[in-house]
Amino acid sequence: MFEVVKRDGLARIGKFHTRSGVLETPALLPVVNPKIFTVPPRELYDEFGFRALITNSYIIKNNADLKERALEEGLHKMLDFEGVIMTDSGTFQSHMYGEVEVTNEEMVQFQKDIGTDIGTVLDIFTEPYWTKEETAKSIEVTLERMQVACDMKGEMMINGVVQGSVYPDLREYCAEKMATMDVDVHPIGGVVPLMEQYRYLELVDVIVSSKKGLNPNRPVHLFGAGHPMILALATLLGCDLFDSASYAKFARDDRLMFIDGTFRLADMQSLDCNCPACRGHTLESLKKLTKDQRTKVIARHNLYQITSELALVKRYIREGRLWELVEMRCRAHPALLDALRRIKEHSEFLELTEPISRDGAMFYTGVESRARPLFNRYEKRVMERYVPPTDKAAIFPDSGKPYSRAWAAEFDKVRRSGYTPIVISPFGPVPADLDEIYPLAQSLFPKLTDAETENTADALTFDFIEKMGFVEVKEYDEIDNDGTMEYDADQLRARAISNYQFGIEATNALFRGKIDIVKSRKTGKIRNVISDGEHILSLRAGDGLYTLRAEGAARILASVPSPFMRVVVNDDSVPFVSEGRNAFCQFVLDMDPEIRPMEEVIVVDKNDKFLATGRALLIKKEVESFKKGIAVKVRSGNGDEA
Ligand code: GUN
Ligand code: ZN
Repeated sequence: MFEVVKRDGLARIGKFHTRSGVLETPALLPVVNPKIFTVPPRELYDEFGFRALITNSYIIKNNADLKERALEEGLHKMLDFEGVIMTDSGTFQSHMYGEVEVTNEEMVQFQKDIGTDIGTVLDIFTEPYWTKEETAKSIEVTLERMQVACDMKGEMMINGVVQGSVYPDLREYCAEKMATMDVDVHPIGGVVPLMEQYRYLELVDVIVSSKKGLNPNRPVHLFGAGHPMILALATLLGCDLFDSASYAKFARDDRLMFIDGTFRLADMQSLDCNCPACRGHTLESLKKLTKDQRTKVIARHNLYQITSELALVKRYIREGRLWELVEMRCRAHPALLDALRRIKEHSEFLELTEPISRDGAMFYTGVESRARPLFNRYEKRVMERYVPPTDKAAIFPDSGKPYSRAWAAEFDKVRRSGYTPIVISPFGPVPADLDEIYPLAQSLFPKLTDAETENTADALTFDFIEKMGFVEVKEYDEIDNDGTMEYDADQLRARAISNYQFGIEATNALFRGKIDIVKSRKTGKIRNVISDGEHILSLRAGDGLYTLRAEGAARILASVPSPFMRVVVNDDSVPFVSEGRNAFCQFVLDMDPEIRPMEEVIVVDKNDKFLATGRALLIKKEVESFKKGIAVKVRSGNGDEA
């Protein structure tokens, strides 16, 4: 069973429950060669804190001594490791060295017999250079074997390996089929050659197409990925598990892993490493060690690089800033930069899980930042949902934020002349009334804008002006300042934010009759929106977006048909949600597919009766797939709307 504790887009911190304990993800499983312990499993557990490892059942089975011991005392005792043990099946060995005369049934049975926690099907490794026909055929064999493995697995968990070479449609197909089977973990296989050849661009496509077909409620393992430099990227794309044989392999070749690459001891100018393994060593002292001693130090150095990066990845997920870490990491190598740039092709898929807002500000780290789904989201919503209050536009350059403070006098002047102020920002056009919503206000850009982002912003503003049907557009300083038109900035702002957040139809239902705006005496910002005497919306200071009140929800339910904004729960859940308790996945019957993480939602019963308002933590596809966990963080039930 897999539970998501914290998520940011596709990235997640999870708890994977196994019979050998709960594994926190993202996690990396060091590969342990049962013949040579470069670092003994006991030390991996005690000193490094690894709670899971992976070893090879095929190697054990082919060694008379190991086989006998594994069958007799079990894998955990043999390896002296009390954590989670995953085994691979020999696919890689058969593929690389042409060995293996074993069958799938034999390997699954053997993995069960030696007490593996998570075994692996004998899948067929699909090489990147394979033809599509070859790949498609071998996927069918892997799928047949997978069904057999699922039928045989018993108490053991099983890896259902997604294959498909570099063909996105085959990857997605294979993933979809695997998702319907009784599989526990989904490794993405056949990617080692891509990583060895620095083909990270294609790796992005492979991961995304696999993720599209998979069930969100199972951990995804990137098979053979263990270099610290790709952990952030792969996690961002939704991988939860990794394994590394390279920490030991590289050590035997005198190669040291660092976050920015792998370096040969012979080529290095100095060691300059603070990890516990290198402490007290210089390049010279390391070179003077015996081969055996040196391998031990370097293997440990490599493991420390991995564990410290993984800890950092988790911290960035918790802080909602993983994109920023990925952007930093992907500048370490041109091939990684290609991967980062490739992500833009997948922004439609990534937008589905992109949260409505985050706690912290977005940092723009270069043109690649513009590929983040929050830019797309903003572009789409402002184009579709903004309703200009006048038919003339005044164009302003970017300035200090918030714009309505930086340009306070100028905004007022142009408005009195009947112009709607529009700022050209790196996000594209920002109407004055939207300047305080996430991510417009909660973002930092360098003062010196790059040409690409500037051009994009100009082009978007041009499209926007056309779409809005402005009959006149002027630079703000070309407008005569003698207008006398009256306007109410708070009313305009209150409605513009609602249009942006909930759409035009819902806003028309919400804003009815006389609108009173309650403002904070300290900050002067809008706090509450009262319509016909009823409190319908509260504005959050943090992200400048609304919290929906019960009366607001009732108006939407009455005017906008289902499934808009709804999360429907079953009768068992009704009394709990009505009292303000959270709505859990297993009780959800249906949900609006347009709902995004952190979006305001209305929880209703099966007859569309109001139960509570709250914020969604998961999207529909996730809620349908998870058996446990919170779907909606409920704010208040209908009983106590204070
Ligand atoms: N190890 C690295 N890649 C693979 C793969 O595609 N399948 C299996 N079973 N093991 C692997
Ligand atoms: Zn070190």
